[in-house]
Amino acid sequence: MTAAPIAPSHLHGVMRRYGRYLPLTDQTPLISLGEGTTPLVRSRGIEQRAGVGALYYKLEMCNPTGSFKDRGMVVAVAKAVESGARALMCASTGNTSASAAAYAAHLGMDAFVVVPDGKIAMGKLAQTVMYGAQILAIDGNFDDALRIAREATDKHNIALVNSVNPHRIAGQKTAAFEIVDDLGEAPDLLCIPVGNAGNITAYWKGFTEYAEYGRATRHPKMMGFQAAGAAPIVQGTPVADPKTVASAIRIGNPASWQSATAARDESGGAIQAVTDDEILEAQRLMAAEDGIFCEPASAASVAGLLKLRRDGLNLQEMTVVCVITGSGLKDPDTAMQTTPRLIHLPADLAAIERALKWG
Ligand code: F0G
Repeated sequence: MTAAPIAPSHLHGVMRRYGRYLPLTDQTPLISLGEGTTPLVRSRGIEQRAGVGALYYKLEMCNPTGSFKDRGMVVAVAKAVESGARALMCASTGNTSASAAAYAAHLGMDAFVVVPDGKIAMGKLAQTVMYGAQILAIDGNFDDALRIAREATDKHNIALVNSVNPHRIAGQKTAAFEIVDDLGEAPDLLCIPVGNAGNITAYWKGFTEYAEYGRATRHPKMMGFQAAGAAPIVQGTPVADPKTVASAIRIGNPASWQSATAARDESGGAIQAVTDDEILEAQRLMAAEDGIFCEPASAASVAGLLKLRRDGLNLQEMTVVCVITGSGLKDPDTAMQTTPRLIHLPADLAAIERALKWG
């Protein structure tokens, strides 16, 4: 018996859906783990709290490895295969390494990931272990890891799949296309966390290209948010020892610094800092009031929106999109540090009724 044909795949993955906007050739393999086409979900709780006309979450945590990285990784890995590479390398705060390791596993390639030792959230490390990557845990931070990954890939025949690779940016810009396709127009504001600054660069590229293609008549103001202890772009100078609970954006010298400030300035937006307390409060509010559990770095976008509101920005007539870059399941340790509301009980209904004062 022959295998049944698989379901129609013309919309399966970012390369099939948006291939005409990507740097693909006849030799580029059309691979996919099902990335892209993520939901744009309307907020209820935070929309009201921040007094926004319409607030949407772009749920990039719904990508196959639980973060936005898959969108750019699939293109970077396909182009690496096309160029004859047999191995991939990246520096990472955790999500890039999980994504690179997954696509490498899918294609039978080797993956080498350089990460700051002891600073990677547990879920991300668990994924990377399971996908079978070589994990090189260095005694240094992300900026050190990226320097080493660049040096290693210059010297050895290995493809560098950090966002300094333009194919990553090309794949990631498709998230902006999807937002415009879903809303029928660009939003007024895009709120996005900023770490190495590849994603804000990619979204801006996506919005401007889509306007050029006539798919939108305007573009959003780009509102980027860094963690206060790791806010080099806000401060205008690299941070030697970045610190934040949002380990994904614990970066002191972003590789795409200049394109991030260009996105900010060309769009009439801003890049601001939010404190760890503001990030954790936004993460908790999103979970409790909107039913969306994201990782701390992702909550920086919502913390930033709430800060804009507190600073007096009137959002009532606006359509706002917050990019939710990664899943809360990536970092269970941070979540469990908020007071867990567990009631420990014997295994009978009477005990539960007593505890809940149900008569
Ligand atoms: N949110 C999450 C969940 C991330 O993992 C990252 C970056 C960002 C936001 C910031 O995006 O770097 O394009 O400005 N994570 C990288 C990594 C650095 O190695 O996983 P950016």
